[in-house]
Amino acid sequence: MEYVTLSNGVKMPSLGYGVYKIAPEKCEECVLDAIKVGYRLIDTAQYYDNEEAVGNAIRKSGIPREDFFIVTKVWLTNDGYHKAKDSIEESLSKLNMSYVDLLLIHKPVGDYFGTYRAIEEAYKEGKAKAIGVSSFNEKLLKKLYDFAEIKPMVNQVETHVFFQQKKLHRLMDELEIKHMAWAPFAEGARGFFSNPVLDEIGKKYNKSIAQVALRFMIQSDIIPIPKSTHINRMAQNLEIFDFSLEEEDKKTIASLDTGKSTFGLEYGPRTGKILYFLSKLFYHG
Ligand SMILES: NC(=O)c1ccc[n+]([C@@H]2O[C@H](COP(=O)([O-])OP(=O)(O)OC[C@H]3O[C@@H](n4cnc5c(N)ncnc54)[C@H](OP(=O)(O)O)[C@@H]3O)[C@@H](O)[C@H]2O)c1
Repeated sequence: MEYVTLSNGVKMPSLGYGVYKIAPEKCEECVLDAIKVGYRLIDTAQYYDNEEAVGNAIRKSGIPREDFFIVTKVWLTNDGYHKAKDSIEESLSKLNMSYVDLLLIHKPVGDYFGTYRAIEEAYKEGKAKAIGVSSFNEKLLKKLYDFAEIKPMVNQVETHVFFQQKKLHRLMDELEIKHMAWAPFAEGARGFFSNPVLDEIGKKYNKSIAQVALRFMIQSDIIPIPKSTHINRMAQNLEIFDFSLEEEDKKTIASLDTGKSTFGLEYGPRTGKILYFLSKLFYHG
């Protein structure tokens, strides 16, 4: 496994395993499989309802806690300083851990400035080794950055070949914020796994479409966190450190960018309000 270094000196694996939409009863087995094939960064969230399963898998693996890099996120209905403080404790208790390696605001919705203060406090208390945000666009990230006493170290955002986030990436470079990619396969949308351009490039290196897309991110200084429930695919998604895309192939892949979210998640105040309202109704975590 290769590592990147965050602005506070903490080392983070350059590729991780995400557990969104993996049911709690299946998640422990999936994470154990992921650990077996070599993943050490596991990305969970309160919202996924599987923090407990992730914690159980880490302990059952028999591998020391400090070898892992565990990411969790404060969900948007736990916004604001007081609720966020309680919810961070709840996450640690579900994970059965004294700290997480990276603690993020899940979405820029509600009183996320208050949430960030609680996250900063968790960092000072040693309950999070690094902190950051998720799904923050340029404008929101800059505002949060200016507000922050402890600057965010990571922004986890939708990123894949069809939505490469080049402008946001340049800003994050300037601010020394690492770019973590959620939905690195666009969750399979837009015919991702049968894309002819990626397929053609894959043939040249004897690699799959998934591997070409992940390798492109690694070479673009982006940390992908692909999800799979199949151990053979988990292993395949890790086997990307034994080849390098040539410049012309990188250029071809760069041209697949549409500049638009596949999921319509551009966080303006209106989207935020709708999401907040729906979450209050349907999420009781
Ligand atoms: N911060 C946020 O707001 C946010 C939002 C979304 C996601 N995330 C994080 O990002 C992680 C990844 O995103 P995601 O789960 O939404 O989607 P994704 O990783 O883009 O795509 C997952 C899909 O790809 C399939 N797949 C995986 N590897 C494959 C391979 N080698 N060949 C063919 N199919 C393959 C999986 O199927 P199988 O499972 O059947 O293999 C699954 O259907 C999440 O798990 C979560 O941790 C964060």
